[in-house]
Amino acid sequence: MWPYPKIIAHRGGGVLAPENTLAAFRCGATHGARAVEFDVMLAKDGVPVVMHDPTLGRTVSGTGSVSDYTSHELTLMDAGSWFGRDFAGERVPTYEQAAAFCIDNQIWMNVEIKPVPGFEEATGRVVAHYTKRLFADLLARGDADPARAGLPLFSSFSYEALRAARRAAPAIPRGYLLDRVPPDWQERIAELGAVAIDTSYRHLTKAQARAIKAAGLGLFCYTVNDPECARKLFSWGVDAICTDRIDLIGPRFL
Ligand code: G3P
Ligand code: MG
Repeated sequence: MWPYPKIIAHRGGGVLAPENTLAAFRCGATHGARAVEFDVMLAKDGVPVVMHDPTLGRTVSGTGSVSDYTSHELTLMDAGSWFGRDFAGERVPTYEQAAAFCIDNQIWMNVEIKPVPGFEEATGRVVAHYTKRLFADLLARGDADPARAGLPLFSSFSYEALRAARRAAPAIPRGYLLDRVPPDWQERIAELGAVAIDTSYRHLTKAQARAIKAAGLGLFCYTVNDPECARKLFSWGVDAICTDRIDLIGPRFL
């Protein structure tokens, strides 16, 4: 049972636009994306912002940790020039800005909680609190209401962040990100009360996919850019994939 879209635009627009910017989200939407994955971490003032790297230097110029800068400082930074001149001046969005875009455009969100090292608990907790506020209307509906499938799915490689998100917002579902599915995956998933495993397609085996599905869990894979590979994974029972190539593997792919 996978109530969410099956094709998810990675970091907004994958490799077609500067990752984790509103330009990326617009690019994904232009290609028909109905779902988006993006990365969230905390600025110095505790405000969640949309960034992948915990340090400056790759997508925004500068040095140091994201946690050294306030959200106001970060949102003034150019996160588009590294990608191309056409994107100069694209800013680092706050989580609220990214979520507003998705809500306004009816795009489902896979929110990856990606803490700056050392801020795992706080990041999970704060992102969960923000999300509770953003989705208060949906959360107020009963569990059986199908509209609840519009709630985001949290995911994280950080066990601690997911545990904190669960404590702060138990009704918002969680997926555990794992580079490789470990032998004790069932225990870990049970401890987190997670509904899905999100794993690299590179290491997943058909037998693992079957076992995860047989356990009643959702299964999605990152980052799948080859249409043939996507077809193979879906044939194994994988529920959803995250892709950088929403132009090749778009919503009409299936
Ligand atoms: O959520 C899947 C994927 O985004 C995890 O890896 O490094 O792209 O955030 P990364
Ligand atoms: Mg990510």
